[in-house]
Amino acid sequence: MSKLVIKYVWEIPVRVTHWLNVVVILTLTATGLFIAHPLSLGDSPSDFAMGWVRFIHFVAAYVFAIGLAVRAYWSLVGNKYSSWRTFFPYLNPDDRQRMWATLRYYTFIDRRLPHVVGHNAVAAAAYFLVFLLYLGMIFTGFALYSEHAPGGFYAQTFGWLTHLFSNQTLRLLHHGFMWLILGFVIQHVYSCWLMDIKERGGIISSMFSGYKSIEEE
Ligand code: HEM
Ligand code: HEM
Repeated sequence: MSKLVIKYVWEIPVRVTHWLNVVVILTLTATGLFIAHPLSLGDSPSDFAMGWVRFIHFVAAYVFAIGLAVRAYWSLVGNKYSSWRTFFPYLNPDDRQRMWATLRYYTFIDRRLPHVVGHNAVAAAAYFLVFLLYLGMIFTGFALYSEHAPGGFYAQTFGWLTHLFSNQTLRLLHHGFMWLILGFVIQHVYSCWLMDIKERGGIISSMFSGYKSIEEE
């Protein structure tokens, strides 16, 4: 006999940073594509049309960077499901076993899904790579941003990247990382949808409410 238990899993900072990230990543992608392929929107340069697009990109960029800092802090003080440890499932024997079981499920070798309360182990390992991509966007983005004010705060903090890489290489990296993030998003939404159906734990609504239903033996 299995019984259904309702558990509080995702605390407020995890949920707020997740949905804020979704909004700002979509904004950064739309404005970023515009920066990469500029169109003449206004009637004259004084309309400042591209200026507004860049301004929105930079405001969203600040929100994105602050969101990542908040999530990183929460991975030190939050509950065990949000801890930094969850993103390294291969370091712990139980999680490593869950990770193999999930991979066997994904590759159609096994029909059974391992029992999880927090992040699915394979997803958690992927999220660490996504956080690295976020850092890549922030570092290349602020390095590009620093070029408008040589000697300023951003040039002192991120300027070393402009010595290591040419401006065009930084743009290419910034642009390429965006496509990797978007590639992740496509599979992420698919996997969350799949798990919502298969686990029947309300995983998608859990990212809004914080609560998951878990079947316990
Ligand atoms: C997921 C996050 C982000 C995405 C998807 C994104 C996307 C893009 C894209 C596609 C471009 C055009 C690159 C090209 O020239 O081909 C761009 C330019 C740029 N981005 Fe981002 N970006 C993100 C985060 C950031 C962050 C955190 C900053 C930090 C300030 C930033 C600052 C810049 C700057 C300074 C430029 C160049 C603007 C210009 O040349 O006028 N971006 N971004
Ligand atoms: C720009 C789009 C998105 C990005 C970059 C993204 C990224 C992420 C990341 C990094 C996490 C880990 C959260 C943490 O521990 O802080 C996560 C979890 C999650 N996301 Fe998204 N997400 C996006 C869109 C969505 C959408 C549209 C949905 C709903 C269909 C969704 C549903 C979820 C769920 C249910 C979890 C928890 C899943 C689990 O336990 O592994 N996400 N997402």
